[in-house]
Amino acid sequence: MPAAPFHLGWFGSFSRGGFAGRWAGTAPEAWANGDYHIEMARHLERAGFDFMMFEDSAMVSDVYGGSMNTNLKYGSHGPKHDPMAVIPVIAKLTKHIGLIGTASTTFYPPFMLARTMATLSHLSGGRTGWNIVTSSEDKAAQNFGIDQLPPHDERYDRADEYVELMNRLLESWEPDAVVLDRETNTYVDGDKVHTIDFEGKYYKSRGPLNSLPPVGGRPVYCQAGSSPRGRRFAAQNADTTLVSLNGIEDMKQYRVDVHQHMRDAGRDPSSLKMMFIVAPVIADTVEEAHARAARSRPDVEEMLCTLSVLTEIDFAKYDLDAPLDMEMRTNGHAGYLNQFKQWASEGQTLRQVAESFSVSSMQLVGTPDSIAAQMDEAMQEIGGDGFLITGLGNRKNIIEVTEGLVPELQRRGLTRTEYTHDTLRENLMAF
Ligand SMILES: Cc1cc2nc3c(=O)[nH]c(=O)nc-3n(C[C@H](O)[C@H](O)[C@H](O)COP(=O)(O)O)c2cc1C
Repeated sequence: MPAAPFHLGWFGSFSRGGFAGRWAGTAPEAWANGDYHIEMARHLERAGFDFMMFEDSAMVSDVYGGSMNTNLKYGSHGPKHDPMAVIPVIAKLTKHIGLIGTASTTFYPPFMLARTMATLSHLSGGRTGWNIVTSSEDKAAQNFGIDQLPPHDERYDRADEYVELMNRLLESWEPDAVVLDRETNTYVDGDKVHTIDFEGKYYKSRGPLNSLPPVGGRPVYCQAGSSPRGRRFAAQNADTTLVSLNGIEDMKQYRVDVHQHMRDAGRDPSSLKMMFIVAPVIADTVEEAHARAARSRPDVEEMLCTLSVLTEIDFAKYDLDAPLDMEMRTNGHAGYLNQFKQWASEGQTLRQVAESFSVSSMQLVGTPDSIAAQMDEAMQEIGGDGFLITGLGNRKNIIEVTEGLVPELQRRGLTRTEYTHDTLRENLMAF
């Protein structure tokens, strides 16, 4: 089959790079003032990435072992800075790459976020997006005066309404409302700016927005939930999804499922680009790459602590060498817990599952050439639309991707060699 082009994105956060390894360099310090991410953005842009996506949460968790200490010790889920603040800085120092920041529908007042997104759109020339999350931690809710998050599916119901309100606010100015007519001394034609008088079940807003309408239409909407309700939400609202699943079969099924939901919602399936998370381990030989992958297994405690943060289940309470308790339930990241259980259903102990658990949807361990071939095959089998590369914890990892893997993908005609449009939406929808 001929190669079909696919998209590339980066998945990470505005937080430290990997700090324990030999190649950490100054990344553990240079992130906080934005320098590390600015450098990374320039490399990724040179390689033609569609976007950088900054995940986020708003808490220091104390779920694991009933204390904040393990979480803070590894620094893997905090400290984090606000991604919305670094986006305009990166935007001013790049020209093409898209920048997607995370904001929670549970905590951000819709009007404030609509205004922030409209502003970012102008600062970046239409290159920004919003990763729509409903938040999954009561610990975060408590920072906003909410004792307990609403139940999982209700959070999505609220988010549906939130997005509807967001759209109404972003459209409250007609595109040609700014007339700039010096003759009549008219800056804005008041007849083209409208109140929205939105009154839903959860939200209420008068509108209009008091900032300019965004450049090139509303910002790109991104979503990452994989539960049945999460998929329906994505089918209704998202332009791109971040997908962390386990193997090609699951990815294929996800694609078929979300596409069906999109058709049910009256949407064209090609208007949503699915990005599958991968964490490639690249070296000069396949053997070297495998040796490296074996050396870089996650620390069991760090992995369990991260999963405790995401699911609010205290994994410190469980026997590491007993089979995983399959009755565990969460009001948090249902997708991750299901994935975790799936690994364990093969009879593994908690320690074994933690050692092998990865957010990567498939294993990519090899040379630039072998990994490019694997990505090509996988995309052909899944049907599209791209990969979200994660785990670039230091400058060496970034270079391995941008100067090793991507040129190989480009040589095969699989990823872009230049940006053909100005806005993130146009680039994302270009193929
Ligand atoms: C790849 C990925 C990235 C995510 N990024 C964030 C994030 O930045 N902030 C957040 O609060 N939740 C994040 N989530 C959580 C999802 O938005 C969602 O709340 C969670 O997966 C639970 O939804 P689900 O039960 O539908 O899977 C992420 C999930 C995945 C899989």
